Amino acid sequence: MSPRHFLTLKDLSSEELKQLLSRATELKKIHLEGTLYEPLKSRVLAMIFEKSSTRTRVSFESGMAQFGGHALFLSSRDTQLGRGEPIEDSARVISSMVDAVMIRTFEHSIVETFAQYSSVPVINALTDDYHPCQLLADMQTYQEHRGSIEGKKVVWVGDGNNMCNSYINAAALLNFTLVIACPKGYEPNPTLVEENKERVTVVHSAIDAAKDADLIVTDVFASMGQEDEQEKRLKDFEGFQVNKTLMAQAHNDALFMHCLPAHRGEEVSADIMDDPDSVVWDEAENRLHAQKALLEFLLCQ
Ligand code: CP
Ligand code: NVA
Repeated sequence: MSPRHFLTLKDLSSEELKQLLSRATELKKIHLEGTLYEPLKSRVLAMIFEKSSTRTRVSFESGMAQFGGHALFLSSRDTQLGRGEPIEDSARVISSMVDAVMIRTFEHSIVETFAQYSSVPVINALTDDYHPCQLLADMQTYQEHRGSIEGKKVVWVGDGNNMCNSYINAAALLNFTLVIACPKGYEPNPTLVEENKERVTVVHSAIDAAKDADLIVTDVFASMGQEDEQEKRLKDFEGFQVNKTLMAQAHNDALFMHCLPAHRGEEVSADIMDDPDSVVWDEAENRLHAQKALLEFLLCQ
């Protein structure tokens, strides 16, 4: 039987996602109480990083240790992947020795190919197109602060990037309205928007979009791999900063999220990061708990 993978949020049903989010909150409680829970004793997660990371690495590595297992950090610089060993061969070999593989890379097709040849579950820890693990943490965080996100208005401000595409998937699975405010030329995947047009709209004014929002989310203007475009993007994204003026358009109890790392003064003003409406630190911490729920779901069925 082929293993269950997590390459986009759509690899889960709506029901599975909801259960996983509740389980993440339970696992958080178990952890904070200091109760020992080691369902993955002597199991191994291989973590392949072709891009930088702080939160993803620390959360997966700590999560595996807390579950009694082990995580292997593999960077493309030090493995044969970086010297051109085919993905298919690497997938066969690595998956024959570990229990799950987590990959952060560039083209989404790389995780798809790896998954096709892997004998164990593969987790997408960010590609150019999607960042589903972050969405688990974001949705858990919203639920913990405000209850169900169903029927709420979420406003994405900025680049139609990997995070934005994953928000579109989340809107479909959890049934919320998503308004994407981006500069012209920076729209998310048009097929994904079209497929979800009942819930998702794309506009080009952030201030108008923010009206009556329950959640405002943003991300850097230039993602990893787009460093050369930083200067151009700074100009193109004028008017797309989340600041006090923008947050004032939203509902009084609206939350602010950012997957981090953030560039204060660019996509978000410095004061918003530490504003009472901001839940960015909980969002980062929940990466640990949400991914533990994911590992348990994929490996303990
Ligand atoms: N949000 C996120 O994925 O952070 P890292 O790049 O630090 O892993
Ligand atoms: N969109 C960002 C997210 C970083 C966690 C990037 O891909 O660099």
